[in-house]
Amino acid sequence: MSTATLDIPTLERLIVAAVAAPSLHNTQPWRFGFDAQTRTVQVHAATDHGLRHTDPAGRAVHLSVGCAVFNLRVAAARYGWEPVTRLLPRPDRPDLLATVRLGGAARTARASALYEALWCRHSSRFPYSDRPLPADLLAELTEAAHVEGASLSFPGPRGTGRILRATWDAEVRNRGDADRAAESRHWTSGPHPALSGLAPAALGPQDCLDRIPVRDFGAHRHPAVLLTRPYETHPALALLRTAHDRRTDWLRAGQALERVLLVATARGVRTSLFHQALEWPDLRRILDGPTGSGGPGRAQMVIRLGYGPEGPASPRRTVEEVMGNSV
Ligand SMILES: Cc1cc2nc3c(=O)[nH]c(=O)nc-3n(C[C@H](O)[C@H](O)[C@H](O)COP(=O)(O)O)c2cc1C
Repeated sequence: MSTATLDIPTLERLIVAAVAAPSLHNTQPWRFGFDAQTRTVQVHAATDHGLRHTDPAGRAVHLSVGCAVFNLRVAAARYGWEPVTRLLPRPDRPDLLATVRLGGAARTARASALYEALWCRHSSRFPYSDRPLPADLLAELTEAAHVEGASLSFPGPRGTGRILRATWDAEVRNRGDADRAAESRHWTSGPHPALSGLAPAALGPQDCLDRIPVRDFGAHRHPAVLLTRPYETHPALALLRTAHDRRTDWLRAGQALERVLLVATARGVRTSLFHQALEWPDLRRILDGPTGSGGPGRAQMVIRLGYGPEGPASPRRTVEEVMGNSV
């Protein structure tokens, strides 16, 4: 395959693909630049889109940006380039989290299915059925995390119970923490409704039986949002971990997370995330694993998987918004 030409509409398509990535409270904490000479996309943290109370160390910003970097890589490959990624390339510029150079002709044929998936992946917080996930899919998801430098494990009933309890504890704390609740309400109700916030249907569902700890973004558990339809009795949870907990690990975890979500989406499986327990150091430690419990290391994300209704699309910032006058 010869190297494709890069015109402005194609560059914009790459950026829109990156922006389709998930982010904590849909904060979209990224900003992009482009160096035409080296054909390199720069991915910066948008510091004014961070969550001071919920994410003081910026771990979730790095995870979200990692997801965007993965989408950028997939889109670059789809348009014919081999993406060459560097994480934290400039120690003197800590907000430059990654660069993706559009290198020679792409090799990977797999990119196409993931490219299609990145447009239809939406968090689905609705009830799933109790249909189990096929074993070959679990193996494929484990491999997806592994190639990005993370581990993915599928806890049994006891481990799942432990994760759900830690997540419920975090939910109770989040609702009682005025600063975090205010942050959640501010971002998820959409300070700029066309560009941010959650779709109304995404904000709504809650498990009336209190088994599945769907995040209560409004922190008020309003009876109107309680779904009477039952959630699955045995939720399929996956735990994403990395060996260490440095900024590069967070960026790798984000790329692994998005690869896992896209592989699941391509196979018709819905996903939603439980990040609540990861926002409290003592609860996060419960999810960290010693060797033998599905992999050593630091917990980075809990992913819920299953068969159910598609989630709604939530708003995104425009190319002009995230690039300024870099195009
Ligand atoms: C680091 C991170 C943490 C997240 N935490 C949660 C969470 O705890 N609960 C939840 O329902 N969604 C969570 N999400 C999903 C976001 O709310 C979602 O990606 C965003 O609202 C955009 O919607 P979309 O995923 O449908 O595109 C998280 C996403 C990221 C990247």
